[in-house]
Amino acid sequence: MGRLDGKVALVSGAASGIGKAVSQRLTAEGAVVADCDITEAPGGITCDVRDQDACIAAVATVVDRHGRLDILANVAGVGIARLIGELSADEWRQVIEVNLTGTFLLSQAALPELLASTGTIVNMASVAGMRATPYNAAYCASKGGVIMLTKSMAIELAKAGVRVNAVCPASVDTPFLRNFKIPDGADMSLFTRAASPMGRMVDPAEVAAAVAYLASDDAATISGTTLVIDGAATA
Ligand SMILES: NC(=O)c1ccc[n+]([C@@H]2O[C@H](COP(=O)([O-])OP(=O)(O)OC[C@H]3O[C@@H](n4cnc5c(N)ncnc54)[C@H](O)[C@@H]3O)[C@@H](O)[C@H]2O)c1
Repeated sequence: MGRLDGKVALVSGAASGIGKAVSQRLTAEGAVVADCDITEAPGGITCDVRDQDACIAAVATVVDRHGRLDILANVAGVGIARLIGELSADEWRQVIEVNLTGTFLLSQAALPELLASTGTIVNMASVAGMRATPYNAAYCASKGGVIMLTKSMAIELAKAGVRVNAVCPASVDTPFLRNFKIPDGADMSLFTRAASPMGRMVDPAEVAAAVAYLASDDAATISGTTLVIDGAATA
């Protein structure tokens, strides 16, 4: 018997990396999982989380297919590394709109269903939302915003029985990190403070395990928290 038997989940950013691992883990724990991503995938729902109508349509598709929604995992995200003087306004907006506004829009679209099911939301923040990294201002601001969005919604929805939490991973071995390009002119000494005392990256499956825990009834009184997954980097 699975911990998430009978639950229906929607996972954004499910075509790659952490989102794919979350989808697999929630499925393994018994949930029926709908994947959504801006990238088309067989059986998946195509959704740009920056688009409010697309978010509403994605939730409607889940309910059409499966009758309910219990778990929303907001995993879709992007990052752009730039020196602060070279970060364009469009790049700033893109990161904020996907990571922060997208998390808000899909959460708001899912809210009627989550209120009906007394469901739960798990947001993908980052240690970058707690302890800044250089050349990453838009990303850090977006993830700090996700943490406070999580906390505000958790308080507001607690009496209605909807829990809202976030996970804050450090470096996770995914295409996102493998494609990370340190900008020309960066001061490499500024990166040493982000090193993990455990000396290794986080595996996507380890983040997915934390998401599954927060989504499950094992975390029934946990809401408004940020679960840090960083090998003691921010300890
Ligand atoms: N990899 C890390 O080191 C790390 C650390 C902490 C937090 N995170 C966060 O984890 C999440 C997943 O990152 P990942 O490492 O798996 O990256 P990834 O690039 O492997 O996956 C991100 C997914 O999000 C999707 N996506 C991008 N823009 C979208 C949009 N507008 N609408 C819908 N989907 C969109 C992409 O198509 C992709 O499938 C992100 O929110 C990221 O900020 C990653």
